[in-house]
Amino acid sequence: MATKGKFIVFEGTDGSGKSTQMKMLGKYLKSKGVAVYGTHEPTDSPFGALLRSCLTGRVEADERAIAALFAADRIDHITNSVNGIVKKLEEGNTVLCDRYYFSSFAYNGGFAPLEWIIELNKPAMNMLRPDLTIFLDLPAEESMKRVSRRGETERYETMDKQKRIRDKYFDVFRMFAGRENIAVIRSEEEKERTQANIRQEVGKLFGGNL
Ligand code: TYD
Repeated sequence: MATKGKFIVFEGTDGSGKSTQMKMLGKYLKSKGVAVYGTHEPTDSPFGALLRSCLTGRVEADERAIAALFAADRIDHITNSVNGIVKKLEEGNTVLCDRYYFSSFAYNGGFAPLEWIIELNKPAMNMLRPDLTIFLDLPAEESMKRVSRRGETERYETMDKQKRIRDKYFDVFRMFAGRENIAVIRSEEEKERTQANIRQEVGKLFGGNL
């Protein structure tokens, strides 16, 4: 019988290499015979589509409206009966997720009251905590360099904001210390080095059986 899969979240500032590292980890786990399902927030649902329009500025919205939408997108992401995270875990997949509630705390908590955003995310926290949150750490200067290489910039992509967001991540990690399993891993120029450090942390979750 399939055992319940692990839930692993990737967090980081913009340009920290989350999606690349997540793909690399997914390939590695699959090569070890682990069933993997990759997903991301904002999602591809109608909630997520609306969020993306807000992030690019096509739709004008207050920070509180955006924060509430992220929380709604997340609840749907967890519970959706077609492709929700809980369903995927119950099917025995290890779920890799690009961003989860710490993104809300770090990004939206810098611009709307943090306590309220934590409250908004209580349903998600009560339903599904990650087995591991991997934070890919990158100084704000480096973040901006990598983001500007991509061409277009979004709502939070200025140096000042990236600095605030990174500080906020560390504030909330301290707040949740002992209640959440968080690994802070430096995002190196050399992707393979970062990946090796990630695999070491993930290996612990599998009890050395990878
Ligand atoms: P995305 O295209 O995923 O950016 P990246 O590729 O850099 O991860 O867009 C996600 C953006 O949404 C990013 O700027 C962070 C922001 N965000 C929030 O503000 N709150 C949230 O809860 C989440 C999940 C993302």
